[in-house]
Amino acid sequence: MKLDGRLVAASYRNELKSEIENIQNTKGIQPCLAVILVGDDPASQVYVGGKIKACQEVGILSMEFRFPVGVEKEKLQKKITELNEDPNVHGILVQLPLPHHLDESEVISWISPKKDVDGLTSENMGLFWRGQPRVVACTPLGVMKILEYYDLNVSGMKAVVVGRSNIVGKPMALLLQNAGATVSVCHSKTEDLKFYTQNADIVVAALGRPQFLKKEHFNKNALVVDVGMHRVISTGKLCGDVDPEGLEGWIKAITPVPGGVGPMTITMLLHNTLRLATLF
Ligand code: GUN
Repeated sequence: MKLDGRLVAASYRNELKSEIENIQNTKGIQPCLAVILVGDDPASQVYVGGKIKACQEVGILSMEFRFPVGVEKEKLQKKITELNEDPNVHGILVQLPLPHHLDESEVISWISPKKDVDGLTSENMGLFWRGQPRVVACTPLGVMKILEYYDLNVSGMKAVVVGRSNIVGKPMALLLQNAGATVSVCHSKTEDLKFYTQNADIVVAALGRPQFLKKEHFNKNALVVDVGMHRVISTGKLCGDVDPEGLEGWIKAITPVPGGVGPMTITMLLHNTLRLATLF
């Protein structure tokens, strides 16, 4: 079975659209997201374009700021400070990855936690890990919403998250644990990855390597969530971290790439922007 992220996203975005209309009418708030893109990475440009378009669809205002790859960090900091102080801006997103001369954690630390739509600042990560979430990173939250939509209850399941990034792997592991799963986190230094994944009821692939996980990695009837997104140079097509070959009839369900997790990441960005607009 395919877990259709576009379908879940469309249904969720409809709900968001009415909520946004409602707070406009009742409270006079027009949610607004500012997106910052540094450099000319083609994939990031596509993602940012998708985010801006999605804002328009549900009635969120958006602003886009582009900086050249070699931008001085002071310039970037000045823009972020300006946006922190602008009462009309509710969410700030710095598209990742950043060029190497910029320290990602330093740049994130400039964002006011009250406008941090990715949930990446120390304050928001701290609140989340303490069990008092304010905003949760968009991709893992989107994964949980797909599972909920399809009534896939992970309570009691053995879950394996492959990848340990701040933006996906770590928060994903905590969300699954909160939902009652017993979670193992695997990564590039894990010896015998198969030992873990073959024993899992649900595997979340967020390792960032094209089609790395194959049929032999999965238990029969496993749930597979593919967070990867890569462009195959020879064909121009998109693929994930999971090789779909031979999976049909073997595993229980998978989120396809494209059309799985991606649309939900963007939808949760809209959700988080609305949340910050109404919280503060
Ligand atoms: N790059 C890839 N995914 C994301 C995301 O969810 N947020 C940000 N800021 N950058 C990303």
